[in-house]
Amino acid sequence: EKDIYEKIMDLAKRRGYLWNSFEIYGGIAGFVDYGPLGCLLKNNIISKFREIFIVKEGFYEIESPTVTPYEVLKASGHVDNFTDPIVECKNCLESFRADHLIEEFVDVDTEGKTLKELEELIRKYNIRCPKCGGELGEVKKFNLMFVTSIGPGGKRTGYMRPETAQGIFIQFKRLAQFFRNKLPFGVVQIGKSYRNEISPRQGVIRLREFTQAEIEYFVHPERKEHEKFDLVKDEIVPLLPADRQMDEKLSEEEKIIKMSIGEAVEKGIIRHQTIAYFIALTKRFLENIGIDKDKIRFRQHLPNEMAHYAIDCWDAEIYTERFGWIECVGIADRTDYDLRSHSYHSGVELSIFVEFDEEKEIETYEINLNYKVVGRIFKKDTKVIEEYINNLSEKEKEEFVKNIEKDGKVVIKINEKEFEILKDYVEIKKVKKVIKGEKVIPHVIEPSFGIDRITYCLLEHSYREEDDRVYLDLKPSIAPIKAYVLPLVNKEDMPKIAMEIKEMLRDNGIIAEYDDSGAIGRRYMRADEIGVPFCITVDGQTLKDRTVTVRERNTREQIRVRIDDLVDYLKERLKE
Ligand code: GAP
Repeated sequence: EKDIYEKIMDLAKRRGYLWNSFEIYGGIAGFVDYGPLGCLLKNNIISKFREIFIVKEGFYEIESPTVTPYEVLKASGHVDNFTDPIVECKNCLESFRADHLIEEFVDVDTEGKTLKELEELIRKYNIRCPKCGGELGEVKKFNLMFVTSIGPGGKRTGYMRPETAQGIFIQFKRLAQFFRNKLPFGVVQIGKSYRNEISPRQGVIRLREFTQAEIEYFVHPERKEHEKFDLVKDEIVPLLPADRQMDEKLSEEEKIIKMSIGEAVEKGIIRHQTIAYFIALTKRFLENIGIDKDKIRFRQHLPNEMAHYAIDCWDAEIYTERFGWIECVGIADRTDYDLRSHSYHSGVELSIFVEFDEEKEIETYEINLNYKVVGRIFKKDTKVIEEYINNLSEKEKEEFVKNIEKDGKVVIKINEKEFEILKDYVEIKKVKKVIKGEKVIPHVIEPSFGIDRITYCLLEHSYREEDDRVYLDLKPSIAPIKAYVLPLVNKEDMPKIAMEIKEMLRDNGIIAEYDDSGAIGRRYMRADEIGVPFCITVDGQTLKDRTVTVRERNTREQIRVRIDDLVDYLKERLKE
């Protein structure tokens, strides 16, 4: 008996949803083609995403290149940190992902283990090469980025982007200007990302080229509130917080808590209102496209599991029969990590001047500094000013030194304690200053959606088997083909009228197909199998009164509708 994954992949291949890429050349793991129906389905999912985040939330979308120069990904930390542990067989030279291999053979959690610890586990449990039984070598780091060169001669290294996010961060200056320097604002990017996964054996779940839909939501670093939080705070979500996952006394069931978003924030389980807000929106989006609401949960990353740029992350996991819970969306708090790092490496300040609602008078210190003074201070090894300078960004440091060079006078913000120490060394006075705003480096909350995984999960959750048929229970708004138009028999004017109806539907933006081959029952089954929500049949009565039957896929119930009313009727039903 085939499992549901195999059944879906069979159907997907046969009917034009998903195909193995490069199949006539033997295929390569980790790549997938979307066939005609797959493309329509995926695009409908993306349309829903845009409907929620672009139209309703008011975010804007940009599109940047997928080929990314070395400098960008060096600054983002991907060149140094975007790695997985790899182990090679000494005999057949096949490579494996060390942590996955261990988990396949022994029941241990490898999350957050160092390379050395992974190697020790391999030795301890005498894990051999699954292909030839040979001895496994050292566990090493493998960088997941596809490398390429830009221009002839290989002078400039480039990478295929591993996430769409970086394209947004590096345009921060332009974006801030576009949003008229007002926080918060959200920027979306939807497109291909690439990861040279070591040995992807999970079919469409782990791909080497996949589509992400990412939101980078820029917030004031000190603001943990979200202005629309009240709208979602009663939404109940299943949460799997990090501390519960690590609590060995709890059973798997007990680790999950179902509570409202509002309560989770109040109790400090979710630390940032904006993360909580996006958890609610993610749940709505997934349910909206048709993911089974009982197969969604939100799992917080364990401290040692986090990506190099994040301080907190909640994954939306979706349940599948073969792979269990899989991560489909990651909602991360990236702080100011990326903007700070790109400022430092590019030398371009990526901050925003946030105007206050009203001017503020602040107390500050004016210090008269000159080289001699600074020199004296350093010699005397006064930590304070050294620390102060070290805490500045490269740009600020430059500014600081430039200011000293100019007139020996610079205004810096220091606290009381620092003032106490500094006042003995420099001429320093307390002044009042009116300021209109302040420069801040925004923090980023990032919901990142893996569209391919979501598409697969949707197919699995829609798959229905009955005694005499298989059908995909796709929502009318998501289904690739909305209607099949069928002449009951190929007689009289029935085919002609059916063809005309098909054209009429397409002219009105409804994707419809005409099918006249085989018995009507078989044609219904064919439509059901690919999830067509409505079958429209032209029969004898149509010739008399210009009405047709509309059959619903799930219930198989039929009603009669006038041809003249058909477009309006379907348009209404396709909102479901
Ligand atoms: N910018 C953040 C980021 O890229 P991630 O958790 O590495 O975060 C986000 O990826 C989402 O992209 C995941 O939740 C998953 O759905 C999808 N994804 C990541 N790697 C994938 C792969 N190899 N194949 C298919 N989807 C993948």
